[in-house]
Amino acid sequence: MPELEGVALVTGASTGIGRHLVEGLARRGMAVAGLARGEERLRAAMAEVADATGGRTLAVAADVTDQASVEAAVGEVREQLGPVDLLVNNAGLIDEAEVPLWEADPEQWWDVVTSHLRGSFLLSRAVVPWMLLRDRGRVVSIASGMSTRANPDYSAYSVAKTGLMRITESLALALEGSDVRAFDVAPGVVDTPMTRSMRMWQGFEDWTPPEQVLEIVAAIAGGELDQWSGRFLRAGADDLATLRSTTPEDTARQLRLRPYGDTDPLA
Ligand SMILES: NC(=O)c1ccc[n+]([C@@H]2O[C@H](COP(=O)([O-])OP(=O)(O)OC[C@H]3O[C@@H](n4cnc5c(N)ncnc54)[C@H](OP(=O)(O)O)[C@@H]3O)[C@@H](O)[C@H]2O)c1
Repeated sequence: MPELEGVALVTGASTGIGRHLVEGLARRGMAVAGLARGEERLRAAMAEVADATGGRTLAVAADVTDQASVEAAVGEVREQLGPVDLLVNNAGLIDEAEVPLWEADPEQWWDVVTSHLRGSFLLSRAVVPWMLLRDRGRVVSIASGMSTRANPDYSAYSVAKTGLMRITESLALALEGSDVRAFDVAPGVVDTPMTRSMRMWQGFEDWTPPEQVLEIVAAIAGGELDQWSGRFLRAGADDLATLRSTTPEDTARQLRLRPYGDTDPLA
């Protein structure tokens, strides 16, 4: 794993995957800013990371769905640490009730969607112009198996994670010709407060080591996987050496309608 440099901004950094990522990126040499709503837990997490790694860290408390807070947070990161080289859109919620769509509480359903989609949109909107100014940057959205497969009990989450793939592909297309790139990284099944809260993972033990998520994100940050911009990668399944040596073709690892056969007019 090469040493990294520059500044990473990771949303949802106070626990779970985001917490693992900030520590791992700091160990690899990046200055790391962590963002989450709960300020106390976030400050404690970023202080622990600074102690454990000796790296530069910053805690910026904000709700990713609030435009003014996001813009203020991104401005603070730029002032305190410098312009962002790596943005990881990781924060987000899950359907709490685990019921079919018609039984879901409308407010919680929509909160799930906005936490991922409005959050990633607002963060990318605030960060990418600065990346373009420097012609340097990588944006990672933390995706899911539910980005490409629906789940009846997690309809809001499926909608949100599928939408993230469109955000990534739209970004990648708009960024063509620049050295700013965008990726979806599904983390596998990592042991976190979110997965512990989900009925579908009760009794599950074959957790994906968070180091495998970190490996892919770090390789992206180091510019090793640029040929995968606009596409979907998965920790715990994808082999890094294979990703490095493979150039995907056509719409590989992108979201498309599968035709029913050669005579399908939409083929
Ligand atoms: N764990 C897995 O196996 C798995 C699998 C597939 C995908 N993912 C995805 O990976 C990401 C992280 O998952 P996780 O399991 O680590 O989740 P988690 O344990 O629930 O942690 C979520 C983090 O996001 C923050 N957050 C939530 N809503 C926010 C908001 N509106 N604004 C700012 N911060 C917010 C939380 O802090 P506050 O509550 O203090 O804001 C917390 O730091 C999510 O996008 C999840 O969908 C996880």
